[in-house]
Amino acid sequence: MAIATGDTIPEAKLTQATPEGPREVATADLFAGKTVVLFGVPGAFTPTCSAKHLPGFVQQAAALKAKGVDTIACMAVNDAFVMKAWGQDQGITDEVVMLADGSAAFTKALGLDMDLTARGMGVRCKRFALVAKDGKVSYLGIEEGGTFEASKAETVLEGL
Ligand code: BEZ
Repeated sequence: MAIATGDTIPEAKLTQATPEGPREVATADLFAGKTVVLFGVPGAFTPTCSAKHLPGFVQQAAALKAKGVDTIACMAVNDAFVMKAWGQDQGITDEVVMLADGSAAFTKALGLDMDLTARGMGVRCKRFALVAKDGKVSYLGIEEGGTFEASKAETVLEGL
């Protein structure tokens, strides 16, 4: 079952590429005491994710932060090196934290996994965005059937 508004973000470990190498990021540390926007995508460098979803959050980063968001994070079932390269390709500096859920453990804990094996992509993350305040979900938008509305930056911004 997918996570819902009012639920607490599950504990898991994500990975962030840093100049010193891959760094473990515990979701407990990422979310505790902060207002966090987390969005998930089916894959780094994939068409909608690169053309619309990630750039939208970069464009709206200042507006989101002006409304009290401390951290904007992007996750995908990819490794940390791919997430870093995708961020660099998009010209991201520190607007959005690029996080890897390489084995899909957090994605599955959120109940947001989908099986794209038939498309040669294995288990991936559904396109979604959520807002969590001190680890509790206050907004959740999950895209089903190829839509791109509930999880886009402008929608998240309107809901804050
Ligand atoms: C997309 O860009 O929306 C996408 C790409 C590959 C698989 C699923 C979605």
